[in-house]
Amino acid sequence: DALLEFKSEFELRNPPEFLDEFIYDYLVPVDVNSWANSSDCCYWDGITCDVTSGVVIGVDLTFSCLHGHFKPNSSLFGLRHLQDLNLAYNDFNASPIPSGFNKLMGLRRLNLSHSWFSGQIPPENLHLTKLVSLGLSSCFNLSQSRPLFIEKPFLVQLAQNLTKLRHLYMSYVNISPEIPQMISNLTSLRSIHLHKCHLFGRLPLNALLSPAIKSIDLSTNPYLESYLPELNGSNSLVLVYLDLSETSLSGNIPDSIGNLKHLNVLKIQDSNITGKIPISIGSLSHLTSLILSSSKLSGSLPSSIGNLSYLNTLSLSSNNFAGEIPSSIQNLNRLTYVDVGNNEFTGTLPPNINSLSNLEYFDASLNFFIHIQTKFVNLVYLDLTYFKTQEPFDFGIFWHLKLLKVLFLSHLNATTTIDLNILLSSHLKSLTTLGLSGNHVSPRNMSSVSILSSQLNRLEMSDCGITRFPEFIRTQQYMSIINLSNNGIKYRS
Ligand SMILES: *[C@@H]1O[C@H](CO)[C@@H](O)[C@H](O)[C@H]1NC(C)=O
Ligand SMILES: *[C@@H]1O[C@H](CO)[C@@H](O)[C@H](O)[C@H]1NC(C)=O
Ligand SMILES: *[C@@H]1O[C@H](CO)[C@@H](O)[C@H](O)[C@H]1NC(C)=O
Ligand SMILES: *[C@@H]1O[C@H](CO)[C@@H](O)[C@H](O)[C@H]1NC(C)=O
Ligand SMILES: *[C@@H]1O[C@H](CO)[C@@H](O)[C@H](O)[C@H]1NC(C)=O
Ligand SMILES: *[C@@H]1O[C@H](CO)[C@@H](O)[C@H](O)[C@H]1NC(C)=O
Ligand SMILES: *[C@@H]1O[C@H](CO)[C@@H](O)[C@H](O)[C@H]1NC(C)=O
Ligand SMILES: *[C@@H]1O[C@H](CO)[C@@H](O)[C@H](O)[C@H]1NC(C)=O
Ligand SMILES: *[C@@H]1O[C@H](CO)[C@@H](O)[C@H](O)[C@H]1NC(C)=O
Ligand SMILES: *[C@@H]1O[C@H](CO)[C@@H](O)[C@H](O)[C@H]1NC(C)=O
Ligand SMILES: *[C@@H]1O[C@H](CO)[C@@H](O)[C@H](O)[C@H]1NC(C)=O
Ligand SMILES: *[C@@H]1O[C@H](CO)[C@@H](O)[C@H](O)[C@H]1NC(C)=O
Repeated sequence: DALLEFKSEFELRNPPEFLDEFIYDYLVPVDVNSWANSSDCCYWDGITCDVTSGVVIGVDLTFSCLHGHFKPNSSLFGLRHLQDLNLAYNDFNASPIPSGFNKLMGLRRLNLSHSWFSGQIPPENLHLTKLVSLGLSSCFNLSQSRPLFIEKPFLVQLAQNLTKLRHLYMSYVNISPEIPQMISNLTSLRSIHLHKCHLFGRLPLNALLSPAIKSIDLSTNPYLESYLPELNGSNSLVLVYLDLSETSLSGNIPDSIGNLKHLNVLKIQDSNITGKIPISIGSLSHLTSLILSSSKLSGSLPSSIGNLSYLNTLSLSSNNFAGEIPSSIQNLNRLTYVDVGNNEFTGTLPPNINSLSNLEYFDASLNFFIHIQTKFVNLVYLDLTYFKTQEPFDFGIFWHLKLLKVLFLSHLNATTTIDLNILLSSHLKSLTTLGLSGNHVSPRNMSSVSILSSQLNRLEMSDCGITRFPEFIRTQQYMSIINLSNNGIKYRS
């Protein structure tokens, strides 16, 4: 009865618009419509009962299309034996989180994430001392309007009371107060996700690096100051995921990072970390994503990077890296995404870099590279802007790239004039974006250029020395951005 009544407290509606469409890829909606008074509730979708006593111990209503205000005296709070409650991905229409959850003293897992609750998270819910997992994350769109927030003592009390907590997800909750030292008392913590929580002050990361910790996301807290401690104790050795992007992280990456043998993802973009990537990075043999862009790193890449054989994403853009790309990078044949743009890399790209046959995105723009070959047959995105070729350039090298959608070749500083007939004709079928600004484009037979792609929507051809309007544009019905400034195009009647 309590369950049926709970169901009747809400309307069933289509999933709310604030949820990303991609959630359909990994969540199957729970079918509350199948609940009927005539059948045993233990067999209803989303319900789990204790095998011996028959009492309801689990309610999983993830993504059930519940819509409406969550009542402070909801009949849900009558289910006193609940251990596991998941209400994530519903639409509670900016209701405050009721303090009544504290009646469910047996709860081990409570998940209210992405369900549009708003206002203060009631401290009464910290009476749930058996909690092992607590999900209170909001999502970007919801946090814009009426955010969830906590008052200052909440985290201290949480650390005092929820001593069994393993998983704490409070992304997009306005936490503001400094993370108290007390958080280090949560020694059972396996994962802590506090993305975009307005955290500030100094956080000794050591406080979070308990021996059991596996996943830390403190990203997008720009006033959170920290540094990476030595990672050579017994702490943090099982860490799998570390995201400290968009924080005021400073200092170097310590050599001891190599001890994090289980690390899959290391993300420290938009930070103030300095120094080199240590050679020991090669010991992170399970790493799949290494994202260090827009920081203040320098020096050359250690060739040990070629040991990261599971790496699929490498993003090092907008740092001060210099020297040559080590040839060991050719071993990384799972790479699909490489961005080394906006650094001071020199020399040629490694000759065997073509073995990276899975590469789909490659940005080498704004460096001092002098030679390029591209046989990356799966490439979809290629940015070579400001590639300092300074020599004749064979534009035929792009013909292999049948899947290429985006090609930026602006400001190549090549001595070769680009003949669009050669670059475009009967190749590059999928092209949607082409950047050629600052190169000399042959003014001859501009009128006869034929392009196979019919999906071009962006064309950058400023400063190309052309004097005729490129006629091929007229057949491109999806065109939305054209830049032909600083040419000598003459009006033609
Ligand atoms: C379920 O059925 C019983 C017996 O017919 C009835 O007493 C009860 O009120 C019903 N509950 C709901 C929520 O409809
Ligand atoms: C959610 O936020 C994104 C990013 O700002 C925006 O593009 C989108 O329209 C928003 N969706 C809704 C339903 O508000
Ligand atoms: C909850 O409170 C409202 C009004 O305060 C009342 O009408 C309703 O019957 C109550 N529901 C339960 C389940 O106690
Ligand atoms: C901690 O939990 C106990 C037992 O449930 C409760 O009495 C106490 O008020 C809680 N403390 C806080 C700060 O919530
Ligand atoms: C809450 O549930 C959602 C959907 O099942 C899941 O993705 C998320 O990890 C859960 N959060 C916690 C803290 O368990
Ligand atoms: C938290 O840990 C500190 C130092 O480890 C200890 O002194 C303190 O008593 C702990 N607090 C609680 C509430 O357990
Ligand atoms: C960790 O490394 C630091 C610096 O290299 C060193 O001072 C410290 O003794 C090391 N600690 C352990 C436990 O090895
Ligand atoms: C980096 O440091 C500069 C100056 O010290 C500061 O202005 C900036 O906000 C910092 N950026 C980040 C992401 O910490
Ligand atoms: C890289 O791998 C080789 C062979 O597996 C190993 O000998 C070497 O120690 C590794 N280097 C690093 C820095 O991990
Ligand atoms: C282009 O290359 C020439 C040498 O061929 C060099 O003098 C010039 O500075 C380069 N221009 C830019 C913008 O790099
Ligand atoms: C382009 O013009 C040159 C010289 O005028 C000519 O030799 C060449 O055949 C023309 N190419 C095409 C495709 O029309
Ligand atoms: C077109 O290109 C010129 C030169 O690169 C640039 O200055 C201008 O801002 C661009 N215009 C637009 C609308 O993007």
